Amino acid sequence: MENNVLIDLKNICVSFGDDQILKSINLYIRDGEFLTLLGPSGCGKTTTLRVIAGFQSPDTGDVVFEGKRINDVPAHKRQVNTIFQRYALFPHLNVYDNIAFGLRIKKEKENVIAERVTEMLSLVNLKGFERRAVSSLSGGQQQRVAIARALAVRPKVLLLDEPLGALDLKLRKDMQVELKKIQQSLGITFIYVTHDQEEALSMSDTIVVMDNGVIQQIGSPTDIYNEPKNAFVADFIGESNIVDGVMLKDCVVEFSGHRFECLDKGFAENEDVDVVVRPEDVDVVATDKGMLKGIVTSVTFKGVHYEIIVDIGGFKWMIQTTDKQDVGDKIGLFIEPDAIHIMKKSEYSGKYGDFSSFSEEFDELSQPDLVAEDSEDEN
Ligand SMILES: Nc1ncnc2c1ncn2[C@@H]1O[C@H](COP(=O)(O)OP(=O)(O)O)[C@@H](O)[C@H]1O
Ligand SMILES: [Mg+2]
Repeated sequence: MENNVLIDLKNICVSFGDDQILKSINLYIRDGEFLTLLGPSGCGKTTTLRVIAGFQSPDTGDVVFEGKRINDVPAHKRQVNTIFQRYALFPHLNVYDNIAFGLRIKKEKENVIAERVTEMLSLVNLKGFERRAVSSLSGGQQQRVAIARALAVRPKVLLLDEPLGALDLKLRKDMQVELKKIQQSLGITFIYVTHDQEEALSMSDTIVVMDNGVIQQIGSPTDIYNEPKNAFVADFIGESNIVDGVMLKDCVVEFSGHRFECLDKGFAENEDVDVVVRPEDVDVVATDKGMLKGIVTSVTFKGVHYEIIVDIGGFKWMIQTTDKQDVGDKIGLFIEPDAIHIMKKSEYSGKYGDFSSFSEEFDELSQPDLVAEDSEDEN
């Protein structure tokens, strides 16, 4: 364990009735880190935040803050502040008084408060908004006030539970960049919750992928993307073709009826494995030049590339290519060794990674602004 660990969750279990919601969570968070809990709705992200904040006591396990067990420290005495998706500004207070609220509870002097509010307003780009009624602000501006209010008391850690979920896509992207800037300029620890993999990849130092109350993988965005631990992570982060394979020996894998060179080793001889190939890592070539051959069954123009679905012996692959193909074309696929990633078989094997039921409809459903309402209910 490293020495700049700020928060350490040890064997945290939480159940509601017969349902075990967190199943022995072990996770440490470094001082100054931007760490994101990522996973589908209901996987236990908010519950994990609530344990850290002190709103939920774990059934078993320890919450350690700067080396001290804080299980029994009440929420208001922890050096932690939370921003929820429904950030609930005080409607009867103006911007200034909203931001000053926590400082007044701490009985800070008014001149200290004035200075801090000014500093916070400049941090969130709302200089001059002091006297505005919060009801007169746009959604994005209100979210900035919520961020300023949470940071004004200078917490060591800011917990953010899907804080951008209610904003439209464009504003969401802008706020992602701003939040990251704020976090870097203050150097405080952010623990961020989202179900949006793109958001997690672009903002985080560390991503914690969760499913069903269990941490599936912890790593940097590039680790998680390039070296997913199992089919769940591979499918949840980006698009993935996931096929059954057999590891013949180190650096040789067979799948889809062909033997491929790869870079992976350390598996047993002839071990059954899951093979991931990302859509952008496949080259489309003439049929006689390809290791695999298939028939194009769908073509979608995506701006920078075409997204095509290719039937290879009954399994549907997704491939991104800049060359235009037509439905019905026979094509060859060329896959370099470093485009192949091998994973151990897991409980998720066979559940993900085939695009046979793929349609544009699914694509739309994964747009954050369309699922925002749904996720709002979970806070
Ligand atoms: N107070 C509660 N009582 C009963 N079930 C709860 C409670 N809070 C959360 N749950 C359940 O725990 C699971 C995880 O919830 P949550 O941590 O909110 O997930 P996430 O934030 O990842 O969507 C969900 O199935 C949810 O319905
Ligand atoms: Mg939640």
